Amino acid sequence: MYLFKSKSLTISTLAALAAAGLLFSALAPGAAAAGGDEGGGRRISLGAKTLASPCPVWVIGSYDAQGKPNAMTASWAGICCSRPPCVAVSLRAATYTHGNIMRSRAFTVSVPSESHASAAAYFGSVSGSDTDKFAATGLTAVRADSVAAPYVGEFPLVVECRLLHTYELGLHTMFIGEIVSVHADESIVNASGAPDLGKLRPILFGPGNEQFYGVGGPLGSMKDLIDRMK
Ligand SMILES: Cc1cc2nc3c(=O)[nH]c(=O)nc-3n(C[C@H](O)[C@H](O)[C@H](O)COP(=O)(O)O)c2cc1C
Repeated sequence: MYLFKSKSLTISTLAALAAAGLLFSALAPGAAAAGGDEGGGRRISLGAKTLASPCPVWVIGSYDAQGKPNAMTASWAGICCSRPPCVAVSLRAATYTHGNIMRSRAFTVSVPSESHASAAAYFGSVSGSDTDKFAATGLTAVRADSVAAPYVGEFPLVVECRLLHTYELGLHTMFIGEIVSVHADESIVNASGAPDLGKLRPILFGPGNEQFYGVGGPLGSMKDLIDRMK
């Protein structure tokens, strides 16, 4: 389905890059491991590292100065405010996307389903500075309705954002995007008008695992779970 051309990398190459810390420098040096007994099991210190798991696998859409659409994978990301509705995405200055968003002050988040895992990995393995990733994958760059950024037409859930703030944190710049529009393929929307995770089948990333994971089934409603404690 995806026509990865000459500049593509295989997933095993991607894994090797990730293991070497070259993709997005996941793991900072940490403290030495130390053990202790707590809560019935031996706990192991994993150090001061970016190991808060899991992370989403999102694809950030932006236009470059020539209007070429670009897509990059980001996992250092999440919803960060309810009012105004905002997402935070942390990008290294070395990414092409970083400069694109600084200039256009807009981006999209396209959420891939499991069926798009290879494309999501690919978008995180090469740079738009020298590759047309949409052409390479055969996926469709669609101009967002509300902001000057493209999204991945084949991905079922899309969040359109205007840049609200940036924060220089160190290796990464955190981009705060105000959500101005969300749209979804109707097949993944539940009766309450929200994405149904069972239908969306989003991808999770486990820092330190360098693998993609699927989402398991529901554990129960919040009410049912609390009732079970009584
Ligand atoms: C699963 C995954 C998650 C990633 N998350 C981030 C991230 O949160 N921030 C970042 O700067 N790079 C991240 N990367 C690496 C970028 O996607 C990669 O450097 C990409 O080539 C940048 O594309 P661009 O230069 O076209 O913007 C991730 C890569 C993968 C595979």
